[in-house]
Amino acid sequence: MTPQTTARARSRPVFARVYAKYAGPALDRAGITEYRRRLLSGLTGEVVEIGAGNGLNFAHYPPGVQRVVAVEPEPRLRSLAGRSARTAPVPVDVVGAVAEQLPYPDSSFDAAIACLTLCSVADPHASLAELHRVLRPGGQLRFFEHVRADTPGMRRVQRALDATLWPLLAGGCHTGRDTRAAIVTAGFTITSLEKFPFPEPRFPSPAATHILGTAERPRAGGAS
Ligand SMILES: C[S@@+](CC[C@H](N)C(=O)[O-])C[C@H]1O[C@@H](n2cnc3c(N)ncnc32)[C@H](O)[C@@H]1O
Repeated sequence: MTPQTTARARSRPVFARVYAKYAGPALDRAGITEYRRRLLSGLTGEVVEIGAGNGLNFAHYPPGVQRVVAVEPEPRLRSLAGRSARTAPVPVDVVGAVAEQLPYPDSSFDAAIACLTLCSVADPHASLAELHRVLRPGGQLRFFEHVRADTPGMRRVQRALDATLWPLLAGGCHTGRDTRAAIVTAGFTITSLEKFPFPEPRFPSPAATHILGTAERPRAGGAS
């Protein structure tokens, strides 16, 4: 990552305001809470969450979690996440950093969370390589992400949007990333995966195809 892309990832004041005030609540109304709960269900130990936004996942961490390190580069969202952390059911440390350069030693977390973030990071491959590095062998990556569509027609729409307006308007988001493939390329083994439209589309939407799942960093020797 160049210093320029790092800076771009850090400050997006208009997106931050819109996400906190309108987009986050709209996702709640569309029923995202069920997916946030399932994403985090049964987690234990030390957890790193990348792109925590204004902290909408924090309320759903289960009691087995000892500590969450919530990485958020955008200053306004990070400040709001700090507020959410105060009422979270588990200890949450909110940290200013990017997923591409996590300031933690190798194998320091039991689990990692990517929730609607791998669409927005500047470099998903570098971010997944970092998550692989900081997870202990056998540790879990839990993900809930919107991804590349299944139909050629919608993929063409996604490519056109991603090359033009969408990332500018949506805080760096890309609609057409093949995040499942990127997770595998980073060395993870996917152990569960569901693909479904969210929100329930009333008309075809370029950001509707979602995946929810778990991947493991294999233990040495390949057994997970
Ligand atoms: C669509 S929001 C999702 C926020 C939150 N995860 C949620 O579920 O509500 C995408 C988030 O990714 C963050 N982000 C963008 N680039 C990033 C990067 N390089 N590293 C970590 N987070 C990043 C944004 O600041 C934003 O908070």
